Amino acid sequence: MARVLDGAAIAAEIKSEVAQEVKLLAEQGIRPGLAAVLVGHVPASEIYVRSKVKTCGELGLFSEMITPPETVTTEEMLALVADLNAREEIDGILIQLPLPPQVNAKLLLDSVVPEKDVDGFHPVNAGRLQAGRPALAPCTPAGVVQILKRSGIPISGQHAVVVGRSDIVGKPASMLLLHENATVTICHSKTRDLGAITRQADILVAAIGRAGFVTPEMVKPGATVIDVGINRITDLAEFEKFFAGDGKRAEIFSKRGSTIVGDVHPKAFEIAGAYTPVPGGVGPLTIAMLMSNTVRAARMRRGL
Ligand code: GUN
Repeated sequence: MARVLDGAAIAAEIKSEVAQEVKLLAEQGIRPGLAAVLVGHVPASEIYVRSKVKTCGELGLFSEMITPPETVTTEEMLALVADLNAREEIDGILIQLPLPPQVNAKLLLDSVVPEKDVDGFHPVNAGRLQAGRPALAPCTPAGVVQILKRSGIPISGQHAVVVGRSDIVGKPASMLLLHENATVTICHSKTRDLGAITRQADILVAAIGRAGFVTPEMVKPGATVIDVGINRITDLAEFEKFFAGDGKRAEIFSKRGSTIVGDVHPKAFEIAGAYTPVPGGVGPLTIAMLMSNTVRAARMRRGL
């Protein structure tokens, strides 16, 4: 039986450490603050941002949610970020993605001062990460490394194969694993004979954004499989393809009309030595690392 890596428990551990740090900072009169910007009404984004703001409250951080309308312009968003950049009580600025098409997302993300870029999306932070300098690293990949480390899974000298090369997950995950002395291979949509490479992985990170893309034949027996995917499926035929015979999932699916599947086919987990389930694996770490980054940003900005 493969070992299930409990992301929720690890996230709780990190959040409790962050709460402790917040308490210590409070003794110095410092309260880390996060501004979360949520544009329009994307249901998934609304859930994520509310959860981020709620967690700030639980851990003792100051937070503010800013909700510009769907019709907001790039200029208005730039002015909003300029204001947040200048505000002393704001240590972290999070602009929830995706943004509506009329907003120039790159221009906007680049306008966040790197010191407050708690998502780690700014090219300066990407460059610092690449160069091995102190940087705010993107939350999801930082969470992946925390799961591995806190589960006692060795990284140094292991072959880590990352499937997916996004700026938000694949690329920074590769860099963080490299800094932990893994031998890293990055695969993507143009990779030839993908399975031959993923089968070499001691640590396989799936960050493709396609439901059940990693199949059992692609996994080396005993490997650690980290599933970063969050894909909602609503189609019964698709449900059957992934979860045939899984009574608990069937119950959820019939009740809600949908369920979440990762980038790894559930049958592939059976080949693994350890894996992160979806939901409850990498997901909870993203918010925990955002909290950790916000406290880190608050300290770094004050030279602590
Ligand atoms: N949308 C989906 N994931 C993320 C994330 O980690 N940060 C932001 N800002 N937006 C997202």
